[in-house]
Amino acid sequence: MTNKLIIGNWKMNGSRASIKALLAEIVAAEVAPGCEVVVCAPSPYLAMCAHILSGSGVRLGAQDLSAHESGAYTGEVSASMLREFGCHYVLIGHSERRTYHHENDAAVACKTVRALEAGLIPVVCVGETPHERESGQTEAVLSQQVLALTTALSSSQLTQIVIAYEPVWAIGTGHSASADTAQQAHATIRRYLNAPCSILYGGSVKPDNAAQLLAMPDIDGALIGGASLNAKAFLTIAHACL
Ligand code: G3H
Repeated sequence: MTNKLIIGNWKMNGSRASIKALLAEIVAAEVAPGCEVVVCAPSPYLAMCAHILSGSGVRLGAQDLSAHESGAYTGEVSASMLREFGCHYVLIGHSERRTYHHENDAAVACKTVRALEAGLIPVVCVGETPHERESGQTEAVLSQQVLALTTALSSSQLTQIVIAYEPVWAIGTGHSASADTAQQAHATIRRYLNAPCSILYGGSVKPDNAAQLLAMPDIDGALIGGASLNAKAFLTIAHACL
């Protein structure tokens, strides 16, 4: 059975009470065999989530990290801090970070190295904007984003990362890429990466489209935003791995 990775990205949502309730439902559910479930919580809740998840099969992730190891970087959180507080995964280069915080490919590559050095599994997000797709630049954009990684990472480091293909036009819009469109982009990314990485799809993954997407040969899992805030929807998606 192939292993699928299902990651929930809660973004800047939730409260102590709502997160406790959401995790209680997720932890109580049986994780499908061959499926790893991860939740990426906002930083202030990581310690609480690590405590709730301890002993469960559900892993914890952060949504970002600093490109620096330590020092005078007010407001930033380092890779080793995340590791110390129970994170196994960290999202890097989400399109919201690239757009609102001007993170470029070099910064994303640097953060990826920091994560690996601390023993975190980086989930590096790539994907084209609507304009880039409409103007036929999808492959060029994806290859450029992947090139930043293949240049900065050693070949053994490359095998330790996870990629999430998230077309910007599909994030939070309710309009997922079709399974064929996503498969085509994943195959392109795999070709440029030339390393045995898991490649997740993200962008309006819902209970009713998850099975079709996850059945594609180059789609190794999903990165889920909105639907991960609802335990029933998130668990239904995780069960679509079966
Ligand atoms: O990190 C998750 C993605 O941005 C997808 O978000 O499932 O709400 O479209 P979404």
